[in-house]
Parts: sequence; structure tokens; C-alpha cells
Amino acid sequence: MTKQTLDRILQSQGFGSRKWCRELISDGEVTIGGTVVDDYRASFETEGLAFTIFDEEWAYRERVYLALNKPSNYECSRKPSHHPGVLTLLPEQFAWRDVQPVGRLDHDTTGLLLLSDDGAFIHAQSSPKRHVPKLYLATTAEPVTDELVGLLLAGVQLHDEPAPIAARSCQRVGDHQMEIILEQGKYHQVKRMLAAAGNHCAALQRTAIGKLTLEHLGLEEGEWCFLDDDELALLMSE
Ligand code: URA
Repeated sequence: MTKQTLDRILQSQGFGSRKWCRELISDGEVTIGGTVVDDYRASFETEGLAFTIFDEEWAYRERVYLALNKPSNYECSRKPSHHPGVLTLLPEQFAWRDVQPVGRLDHDTTGLLLLSDDGAFIHAQSSPKRHVPKLYLATTAEPVTDELVGLLLAGVQLHDEPAPIAARSCQRVGDHQMEIILEQGKYHQVKRMLAAAGNHCAALQRTAIGKLTLEHLGLEEGEWCFLDDDELALLMSE
């Protein structure tokens, strides 16, 4: 059980600097249990704490775990250069609390992207040692042939890699569409593997990470949600 003063609580949740949070509170913009709390020194038990700011409801979260259905033309990098960053799709306070994408999708790749401010979670999810399988739906410029599927399953040689890399699984789902599961997460991996196998990736969507699928989350492009304990467990399960 942890009690904290309201200004510290709001700051920890990313609502701005301590000074700004104190002003919000003193201005009567924060309510707890339906009552305005305008004393920033008032302290509250953080666990299970619900509050409103500017009439919007929030729950205290020590760490946040998010899923975003990333649209095309957004960058995952911390300092985006050619397109807006994915954090611009989320409420501002997530950037304040240093929420970061778990790994990266290319600016033109759509689909499931995890974000968190929990460094251990980010590390565990992106560690190559864990081999978290990621499912992609790739649209190809040339038809998907048995030969292409065979090459990707057998392994293709990418520049700068010491040995050929194989897809964990790969199947044709349309004339120009295939599902491919990778365990590594190397730079432009699907696009480079398709190119090395003599095709070209025209569009790419990530549809699942581990056992967590976009379909389960039901997110439209550009939408995000908090991940609950069951969804986090799906990510962790083998
Ligand atoms: N592979 C790619 O080529 N791009 C991505 O964004 C993800 C996997």
C-alpha cells in the first residue's frame, strides 16, 4: 500500500510537471469520488485510485501497457524525421511518462504495436532470446508461389547476417498474400526476406505478437487500448 500526495500522483501519471499538476488541483480541475480535491497536499492510496481531470476519467496505473493498431505513415522512432511519431496517436500524458514502442514497425507497416513505460517488459518482449513469434500479413508484388513459401521456410541469406534466416511458419493466403511468422525482429526483416526470395513486399501488417492478436483486441487503425492482465499473460505464454 502506498500513499502519495495528489500532486505527486498526477505527475507520476504523466499529467505534467509538479508545478502544473499543483495548478490543476488548485484550480479545481481534479475530482476523486465525485468531489473536487483542491489541496495538492492531500494524500491518497494509489492502488485502485480513480480520478477525473477536466471531467475525463482516469485510473492510477503504476506502469502502463498499451496496444496500438498502427496506421501507415507514422514512425516508431523517438525522434521521427519524415512522418509523425506513433506517440502523437496517444493521449499526451503517455509521452510525459516516457511510454515507448516495444521494438519498431516501419513507417509504412500497419498493425499491432505494443508500448509501455516498463523497461523490464520492453526488454523482455524485445529480447531475441525469448523468440516471441510475430505474425505478419504480407501483400506481395509478385504472386505467392509454393517455391517462395519453400524458400522462406528453408531460410534466405540477408546482407550482414552470418547465416540464412528462416520463417518459423509461412503460408499462402491469397494470390498476392501470405502469412509469415518470424521470431527474430531484424531490421526490415519481412521485406528483406521477401526480396531475397525474389519477390517484393507491397504492404505489410503485423496481426499478432505471441498469442495476442489484433482481432482479439478489436482495434481499428489508429485506435489504442490498455492491455489487461489476461492480455499480458497471452503475451508471456509460450
Ligand atoms: N519486417 C519489416 O520488413 N518491416 C516491419 O515493419 C516489420 C517486420
